This record gives sequence, structure tokens and C-alpha cells, in this order.
Amino acid sequence: PTPKLLKGRTVTITAGPTREALDPVRYITNHSSGKMGYALAHAAHTLGATVNLISGPVNIAAPQDLNITTVSSATEMHEAALKLAPQSDIFIGCAAVADYRAADIADQKIKKQGNEMTLTLVKNPDIIASVAALQDKRPYTVGFAAETQDIQQYALGKLKNKHLDMICANDVSQEGLGFNSDNNALTLFWANEQRTLPTSSKTELALTVIKAIAGKLS
Ligand code: C5P
Repeated sequence: PTPKLLKGRTVTITAGPTREALDPVRYITNHSSGKMGYALAHAAHTLGATVNLISGPVNIAAPQDLNITTVSSATEMHEAALKLAPQSDIFIGCAAVADYRAADIADQKIKKQGNEMTLTLVKNPDIIASVAALQDKRPYTVGFAAETQDIQQYALGKLKNKHLDMICANDVSQEGLGFNSDNNALTLFWANEQRTLPTSSKTELALTVIKAIAGKLS
């Protein structure tokens, strides 16, 4: 049996993409499947934690035993995260949050125009950075970084700029890994330490990541 390393702990995890509406029938999104975030949520539950899963739109059955909050946009995910993070010991930002949203969501379907059209986008809040910036009741904050090059440099940059405790980086340029895949390979970075986890299933990796986090708390 797996030792209940997280018994009595609360873990909040964001997962999946966000969906940014343009009008009543259109939106901007990305290819995140939510698989890694859901695997982390299950792993944390296996280790005895109370788990809050904040999920963007995905094609995964809503898990039993987890407190799921379903959201659509980054704004909604931000609101849910700021509500749950202060009650959490650990916050893991695994969602692929859209960096921008439409400046205005049209009330009616946008009509076809000439050969070009321009959309004005505005920046979304950085959800994990706002959790890491909590003064009071700040959870141990873990981010993800999907990179196609210079993984270590970019991951450590994000760890520092977003004031995270730990970041899990993956190389999304490798075929069969990362987005939408069942497998992944990760390197975990802390300010003064790193650990490379070889390619394996997201289920196995999730358990290793959650155990690594639990080890830092105790
Ligand atoms: O900066 P970048 O998007 O690569 O950082 C990825 C990390 O930041 C992930 O943990 C992701 O969930 C989080 N993030 C966020 N809010 C955003 C953008 C990214 O929480 N608006």
C-alpha cells in the first residue's frame, strides 16, 4: 500500500486548457488534454490528500473523490484558484492558460468581413504568479513549463519570475510526449536542485512528482 504522505493536506491543481470566447459561437484555446493535471490530482488523492481540481474544458470523465470546479476562461480559473489556494498546503498549476483573451466578447456572432480582420487581445492574469504572491496562507507553489528549447534556462527563469517553489519542465518538441500524449518526461527544478525523471506514463510520473513535493513539505 502507498504510504499516505499527504494525509491531512489539501492540494489544489489547475488542469486543461482555458477557452477564451470571441463571440457566442467562437473561442480561442489550445491543445492541452488535461491528462497530466488529472493524473496529478489522482496521485495526490492516492497519497491521502484532499484534492481540489480546477479544470478547463477537457474530455476526461469528472473524477469521483475529488472536489472538481469546472471553468472555461482564464478569468474564471483565476477566480477559483484565488478562492481555493489560501485553504491549500500545495498549489500545482498544470493548466495551459491562454495568455490573452478578447478585449471585448461580441454579443452577437461576428460577421464575415473583408480579406483581413483584426482581433484585439488583452493579457490574462498569471494565475500561478498571483497564488505565489499571496502574503498570507501561501501554499507550496508548483508550476509547469512546456518548452521546445533551452529548457533549463526558461524553466529556471519562470521559477524565479513567478516566485515558485518548484517547476516541472517538459520538452514538448519530442514526438509522443507532452500535449495530448499518455507519456511524458519531466525535469523538476528547485532553486538549488534538479531531478530528471525519465519518460514514463503520466500516471507514474504524477505519483513521482507528488511524492517529490510531499518530501519537501515534511
Ligand atoms: O509562462 P508560462 O505560461 O510558460 O508558465 C507556465 C506555468 O504558469 C504553468 O504552471 C501554468 O499553469 C502557469 N500559468 C498561469 N497563468 C497564466 C499563464 C501560465 O497560472 N496566465
